[in-house]
Amino acid sequence: MAAFDQAKFEALQGRVMGNVGGAVGLLLAYMGDQVGLYKALEESGGVTSEKLARQTGLDERYLREWLSANAALGYVDYSEQSNEFTLSPEQAALFSHESEPTCMQGFFQAVVGQFATHDKVVDTFKSGEGRPWGDHHPCCFCGTDRFFRTAYDSNLVGSWIPALHGIEEKLKSGGKVADVGCGHGSSSLLMAKAFPNSTVVGFDFHGPSIDAARKKADEEKLNNVEFEVRAAKAIEADNFDLVCIFDALHDMGDPVGAAQQVAKMLNPEGTFMVVEPMAADSLGENLNLLSGIFYGFSTTVCLPTSRAQEVGLCLGAQAGEKRLTEVLKEAGFKNVRRATETPTNMILEARLK
Ligand SMILES: C[S@@+](CC[C@H](N)C(=O)[O-])C[C@H]1O[C@@H](n2cnc3c(N)ncnc32)[C@H](O)[C@@H]1O
Repeated sequence: MAAFDQAKFEALQGRVMGNVGGAVGLLLAYMGDQVGLYKALEESGGVTSEKLARQTGLDERYLREWLSANAALGYVDYSEQSNEFTLSPEQAALFSHESEPTCMQGFFQAVVGQFATHDKVVDTFKSGEGRPWGDHHPCCFCGTDRFFRTAYDSNLVGSWIPALHGIEEKLKSGGKVADVGCGHGSSSLLMAKAFPNSTVVGFDFHGPSIDAARKKADEEKLNNVEFEVRAAKAIEADNFDLVCIFDALHDMGDPVGAAQQVAKMLNPEGTFMVVEPMAADSLGENLNLLSGIFYGFSTTVCLPTSRAQEVGLCLGAQAGEKRLTEVLKEAGFKNVRRATETPTNMILEARLK
């Protein structure tokens, strides 16, 4: 065994303590989000715990402890002089600006969802058996939608679709789009709104997610989008110009079979857009914080979701472009290229010709 290096130990200890603070802070941030405290703080421009308690109707003593923890962690600012708590613009960007890509609340919610069913997480890991997507805590579905949606809001219409050969023009004039494994349908809704001459169909095998997607479509009064409960390999509709899978191909039990089905769904000139978490091709190249987070979710959600289905390939959320390209080629796609990317996502374009 290598000799104990005190400096290395202390550096790691500091990081791990930071993670413990983060784990506790994340739960506090989730609580604040659920009861609207960051919004209230932002709107107040600075408040004492007593005033915030009066404004929100929450218990002052609990609130003071929550505020103290947030102040100690740097999530809110505190002035000893005025005894007031404030939310700076930077803190607001992370904790209360829901529609902005900087907002972390979706991420927090997804982690809370994993902790909420920690017994099942351990049992699944011990047994090596699958755990169906639908078996997770609702925070897993809401959090996933919330944190992936920020990337789609910022990039899907403005840069990902324009990076595909000829698709933007087609959708502007009127095309047919499928969004497979659409979850709560945020990506489907974005495309339906941006391309009113096109029709979009979102498919997912998880009924409650499709219910949530339909509800959002109704609220937004969109009539060029519909949603169907359907497993990827069971979709019968065809003649699509664009089929997309957003952050879901690696969750499928049989991604090759799903991609073969996509090939049948497309018209001969059609395009398959696969959005996957950013990753290099080997673990050695993936030793960074973002990959650590993705491998983590992959251990508790993506692999068990895949294993619960037929084939159970377990690609994982850090499969990398090389492995994903193999899957797409095995399914019959002749041309596969990385059309574009962001720091968190790679966007692959697959075509039959
Ligand atoms: C990580 S979520 C992503 C959801 C959505 N695309 C998004 O980006 O927010 C993965 C989704 O894939 C769906 N899924 C997994 N396997 C599937 C399959 N074989 N057929 C259809 N949907 C599937 C799950 O129900 C879940 O909604």
